[in-house]
This record gives sequence, C-alpha cells and structure tokens, in this order.
Amino acid sequence: MFVREISLADTRRLFTYKKELPIDVALNIKGFDYAWILKSRTWHSGEKVLDVGGAYSSFPNYLSKAFGCETWVADDFGTKADDEYWTREKSPQEHFKKHPETKYVLERVGNPDESSLPLGYFDVVYSASALEHVPAELTPAVWKHMKDLVKPGGELIHAIDMLMPSNGGLPKMVSAWLFDSFPWLAPTKFKVAHHLATPANYTRIAEKAIGMKPSVPMKAINIWRMSLDPEIVVEPMDYGWNRIRKDNMTDYRHHRFGSLLLHFKKE
Ligand SMILES: C[S@@+](CC[C@H](N)C(=O)[O-])C[C@H]1O[C@@H](n2cnc3c(N)ncnc32)[C@H](O)[C@@H]1O
Repeated sequence: MFVREISLADTRRLFTYKKELPIDVALNIKGFDYAWILKSRTWHSGEKVLDVGGAYSSFPNYLSKAFGCETWVADDFGTKADDEYWTREKSPQEHFKKHPETKYVLERVGNPDESSLPLGYFDVVYSASALEHVPAELTPAVWKHMKDLVKPGGELIHAIDMLMPSNGGLPKMVSAWLFDSFPWLAPTKFKVAHHLATPANYTRIAEKAIGMKPSVPMKAINIWRMSLDPEIVVEPMDYGWNRIRKDNMTDYRHHRFGSLLLHFKKE
C-alpha cells in the first residue's frame, strides 16, 4: 500500500467543491467528505465500490447512477451493535427496496471470518463519517479487513470525523502534542485505546494495520494546525448539538469536529 493523500478538510476545497461539482455540496463535514471522495479519483463504469457504514446515505446510490459503478454498502444499520440511534426509526428494508441500484450487506466490516464480502474484489473501499464509530480496539482489524477487500491497484478512501484536541483547552493540547511528538514512548495498546486522540495517532494505527511503515508526524495533520488554522473545516454547531445529544455529552466544550482524510492505494 502507498499514500495518495493524508490531510484535513479545509474551507478552500469545500467552497471550490460547492462552486464546481454537479452534486449539492452541504457546507458541513459530510458535504466535504462526499465531495472529496468524489474528487479523489476518476470513477469508471463497472467498478466495484464498497461504502463502509454507508447507512441511509444517498452517495453510494449516486455513484451507481452517475458512473455505473457496482456499489455495495456494508452496514448493520445498528441491528448488531445494539445501538438504536443508527436505525433512526427508519426501516433499512424499505430503504433497500427503494435503491435496487446499490447492494446492501447487513454486516459490519472487521472480521473476514464472519463476513460475506468478497476479498480482493473491490476497486475502492471508502467511508464518510463512519470509522470514528468503530470501537478503538477493533480499528486495526477493520483497516486490515478493508485492505484485504480491495484488489491490487485498488484504493482505500476514508474521511474520519475527529474532535479537535483544543476542545480540552491548553492542557489537552500539550498532552496531544507530546503524544504525537514521542509516539514511541506510549505502548501500542495505549495508542490504540486512544485511536482518535490526534489525527497522526489514528493515521499511524491505520498504516500499521495495512502493513505500511507509520508516517512521520506531518505538518498537514498537526494538532496545532488542526485547532488553530481558520481554514480547517469545523462541523457547524447544530451538528455539534446532535452529537452532544446522541452521546449524552455533559462537557459542552467538546463539540468541535474536523475531518481526517486518508487515501491509500494498493500496489
Ligand atoms: C454516522 S453513521 C453513517 C454515516 C454514513 N456514511 C453517511 O454518510 O450518512 C455511521 C455508520 O457506521 C456504521 N458502522 C460502524 N462500525 C461499522 C463497521 N465496522 N462496519 C460497517 N459499518 C459500521 C454504523 O452502523 C452507522 O450506520
């Protein structure tokens, strides 16, 4: 595998997408993510594409209709996670019926032994706002499985929602900076348990899981840039409120989210 892109969502690209793309680009993280995924490569008819955690998103259906891709969605829609939130009082079955252009597989990615998804089959495995919901200890297994699902030359294109380290104030920023600057000081188990602590930590875990040498700390995803650069896309506040409600958060400082963008290609 090799790196095609490691970056954070930024407003310059978001507004360019809004101006130039044929889809309706919402001015929030999901709007950025779909547009970024769309622009990350040239899509061809017949390509096999898997959306991990696609749920009720219309983006996979768009790929099927606009480009003639054979698009799959792997998501258990909360049925196996015992989390009612993801079912959102909607019926997955009704949704599947309305979208025969997309193949829905009611399962989670992460365990090839329990999966019906064909290995080495997909040209692209992508996700938008899904991988941050994977429990920390399963993150390496999910990335390894996704690597095995793509064929040689295939791509992994993932946008992961990440809390700003600055949400915890200066003490959190300093500890995040130390964590990123001296990663070898923390045991692997600790780094995995805190997978979303910083963009660099998550990136290194993903890279290791797919058999790559972990990247050196990069300016582009540095915690200071993420928290202080006004060009970084931050989730609008009404979405922050949704998260506060969903996760029963009691510390309301913790609402600022950005998006980490990881694009790898298989040799
Ligand atoms: C925020 S929601 C859906 C986001 C969706 N991609 C969109 O753009 O609207 C996150 C989804 O990830 C799914 N999910 C979490 N872990 C997963 C896994 N290991 N494999 C597949 N789906 C997963 C959940 O069931 C949930 O539907």
